[in-house]
Amino acid sequence: MIALRKSAPDVAQEVDMARDETGLRRFLEPDCAALIWQRETPADVQHWLDRVDPDRLPRGRVIVQPEMIARVLAEFCVMSGLPQGPEQDWLQADVTRLAGAFSSLMAARYLRFRLDVVTTNACRKFHVDAITARLVCTYRGTGTQLGVSRQGETPAHAQTVATGSPLLLRGTRWPAQPASGLLHRSPPIEGTGESRLVLVLDPVTDPGDEVESHMTTPAAAALH
Ligand SMILES: [Fe+2]
Repeated sequence: MIALRKSAPDVAQEVDMARDETGLRRFLEPDCAALIWQRETPADVQHWLDRVDPDRLPRGRVIVQPEMIARVLAEFCVMSGLPQGPEQDWLQADVTRLAGAFSSLMAARYLRFRLDVVTTNACRKFHVDAITARLVCTYRGTGTQLGVSRQGETPAHAQTVATGSPLLLRGTRWPAQPASGLLHRSPPIEGTGESRLVLVLDPVTDPGDEVESHMTTPAAAALH
């Protein structure tokens, strides 16, 4: 676990852990800089996910009402040619569950819903996203990495979030100030042959005002 600025009580201090959906409410407390929902994908599903042809992994991005996530994901799976079966059923149910839990937690009427298949170092620099909050869950491959920067320096250490464990992050538009110094990046996998399947959910209050998210610390592409 990463401990942040222990000496400043009004600053988010911890990357905390949740064991179940109920524990996600910890994310809303002032001293929680980020939250990891510790859990494991069922072994048979993970085995299947790790071996699916990367070209057939579902991908796409859309702003959608949370209750429409299941239908949209089903379309993504059809478009990519993901093999049908109980493992795909589990993936669809899990993404739908995370979308429901996160939209409820954030009181979001809409979500920016992304499924990315990542094979590069597209976002290897540590950064904070210009958003309110984000849920990231890596279903296949190495998880998102966290690090602390107190004075703008590159973090000396990185903590890798476990595959299958959702990570809830604050962005620069989170109302709490000052910032915690907690940064994140996608793991450096280029040249390894690894293919990651990453779910990203952002709360969207008004889709009419929606603009593409971008990163601020430092500038880089929008992957995890
Ligand atoms: Fe990011």
